[in-house]
Amino acid sequence: MTSSRPKILIFGARGRLGAALVRASVADGEVHPLGRAEGNLADPAACADRVRAEQPAIVINSAALTNVDLCETERDLARTVNADAAGALARACTEVGARLIQISTDYVFSGQGKEPYAEDDSPEPISWYGQTKLEGEQQVMAAESRHAVVRVAWVFGPDRDSFVDKAVQSSLRGEPVKAVADKWSSPSYTLDIADALRALFAPAAPGGIYHLCNRGVCTWRDWAEEGIRAAAALGAPVQTRTVEPLRLAELGAMVAPRPVYSPLSSARIEALTGRPMRPWPEAVAAYVRLLAEAGRLRVD
Ligand SMILES: NC(=O)c1ccc[n+]([C@@H]2O[C@H](COP(=O)([O-])OP(=O)(O)OC[C@H]3O[C@@H](n4cnc5c(N)ncnc54)[C@H](OP(=O)(O)O)[C@@H]3O)[C@@H](O)[C@H]2O)c1
Repeated sequence: MTSSRPKILIFGARGRLGAALVRASVADGEVHPLGRAEGNLADPAACADRVRAEQPAIVINSAALTNVDLCETERDLARTVNADAAGALARACTEVGARLIQISTDYVFSGQGKEPYAEDDSPEPISWYGQTKLEGEQQVMAAESRHAVVRVAWVFGPDRDSFVDKAVQSSLRGEPVKAVADKWSSPSYTLDIADALRALFAPAAPGGIYHLCNRGVCTWRDWAEEGIRAAAALGAPVQTRTVEPLRLAELGAMVAPRPVYSPLSSARIEALTGRPMRPWPEAVAAYVRLLAEAGRLRVD
């Protein structure tokens, strides 16, 4: 390893965010992407051994059991993957002198706030997913204060479909589009997240908790409408232009409670990078341009 090309190990490398992190990080180091087959967080000791064997300078953990409802029923697995594996990685990183960057979530908050959450606001999860992600954060920060926890919120990007893709596709097919209009957070475009997160690769960057989202607050309905509006602006043959509002309470199929209001303020990372995160509508528009360039603004 040389200081100019640090070895960067990325767990969860084939996920929506992980794949973007892999692409962005090659500018800064020798990237080793690890999917589930190479780094299964259900076996924390094996993942820690991998860190000790590879002797990286930086480890990013973007892997998680992200199915919020499944976490309620698969409680032990969720705790192992989301909490204990993060802790094992952090302790192994400390042993080899690496910094761990642990990806976390707005779901560590209760959602009872009125302003976007700051990094030092008290977490109070209301779901088992949120609880296990918080325990992961705590294990990471207990290992060493140089490690970093990066909380993101509504993640979208080109590597795996998310809510905004589904809304645009439904609109192209002429189907009614419905979305929750009484739940608020901050969309987080994977390309923007991956780019800003690189600031934490600098050894001098302080550890601790960071929030990392696009600027602004919206509902799922706003998010869907913005995606459709951006597609229409590019001349895509969208048919449904109005997104019908749903109430969160109407989504009967959900097992886990969701925080109602969980936008995140990214002030700390913005101070570190010296750049504001771009507002979420601009990020959605950039993403929809990417879809157009890839020929994906047509019915699948
Ligand atoms: N999605 C969101 O809106 C959102 C919001 C807030 C925070 N986050 C956080 O952001 C991070 C990235 O999420 P994402 O949006 O990229 O979700 P994702 O696409 O579901 O990525 C998660 C990755 O973790 C992997 N994984 C699951 N269990 C694993 C295990 N036991 N061992 C190794 N890998 C395992 C998955 O592998 P498979 O592909 O094989 O399943 C997947 O590649 C997570 O830490 C999540 O908690 C996400």
